[in-house]
Amino acid sequence: MSPSPDGWQAVAIAAEIGKTPRRILLAGLPVVLFRSGQTIAALHDRCPHRHVELSKGRVENGEIECSYHGWRFNATGACTTIPGLTGAVPSYRVPPLKTVVKEGVVFVARGDPEGQPYLHCAEGQKIILKLAGSSTRSTLVDTAENILDATHTHFTHKGLLRGLSSERQRVRVDVSGGPGWVEACYTGEERQHGLISRLLEGTRVKTIGRFRHPGIAELEYWGAKGLVLATTFHLRQAAENQVDGIGCLIGPRGGLLDHIKSFAFRPMFRIALEQDRRVLTSASRNAAYWPEASPIVGPLDFLRRSIEAIVTGAMPPAANSPETFYIEL
Ligand code: FES
Ligand SMILES: [Fe+2]
Repeated sequence: MSPSPDGWQAVAIAAEIGKTPRRILLAGLPVVLFRSGQTIAALHDRCPHRHVELSKGRVENGEIECSYHGWRFNATGACTTIPGLTGAVPSYRVPPLKTVVKEGVVFVARGDPEGQPYLHCAEGQKIILKLAGSSTRSTLVDTAENILDATHTHFTHKGLLRGLSSERQRVRVDVSGGPGWVEACYTGEERQHGLISRLLEGTRVKTIGRFRHPGIAELEYWGAKGLVLATTFHLRQAAENQVDGIGCLIGPRGGLLDHIKSFAFRPMFRIALEQDRRVLTSASRNAAYWPEASPIVGPLDFLRRSIEAIVTGAMPPAANSPETFYIEL
């Protein structure tokens, strides 16, 4: 497992950036993404002339045109055109950001990272990959924890990820970690009875929930013959109360996602996301009324403290003291 942060941040699905530019927030910095030739360009979303948002303009021949006086900037941020000017264009520039498109996902970096970004847990394998974007009113820690938290599924996703009965199974949970990551491995849970599980799975051998720096939450479902299904979510705090995510849904080629069932899976995946969004939004709204109150980290919240440590760049407690728990799930 690569422990070090690579400096890249997944910010958009490339296919969703068509003719119109897209404004995103990257750690509070407005950035405009636009299509330029075969690639996606990223510039500070501010025209250097009168500071209008470039994303309010349009894209012409791979260059972005400001909506105020029509100045154009290319993918490197250099000004190429000032309408009405008869002489040479001065060397004005908008700061660019490094971008890379990997398997349909646009990554942006504020610095100059070496190497390729990490996209998902099954890289290099023969897989089916589906992408979905989401936006939730929440914090990065709350959202990541929600994705990885097994205990809420009985309530928030009753019938979808879990059965309608309150029956539980005794499950072993091994929590471990290292620099920049923490994971919980669940074993002993042979089958879940929710609709999604029924459609997609046979016997389950283990489930892993993992968090990686800077904001990657991933779930892996392992069957007797290997990985059955996995999700990797790239999360970022796009604004004070908003977490944007790019979700990768991964299944082995020839496996269940490859099957007609995947048509049914996507809408159900969306419903589950909506159910989570509802509880996260409720928590976020309520937090505003009790700004000093910190949430309880309960005995089943195995990953919370480690996630909190990782997002601040600290060593997660799970790295120094791996633990095993037995719970009813
Ligand atoms: S403000 Fe952008 S061209 Fe004038
Ligand atoms: Fe959930």
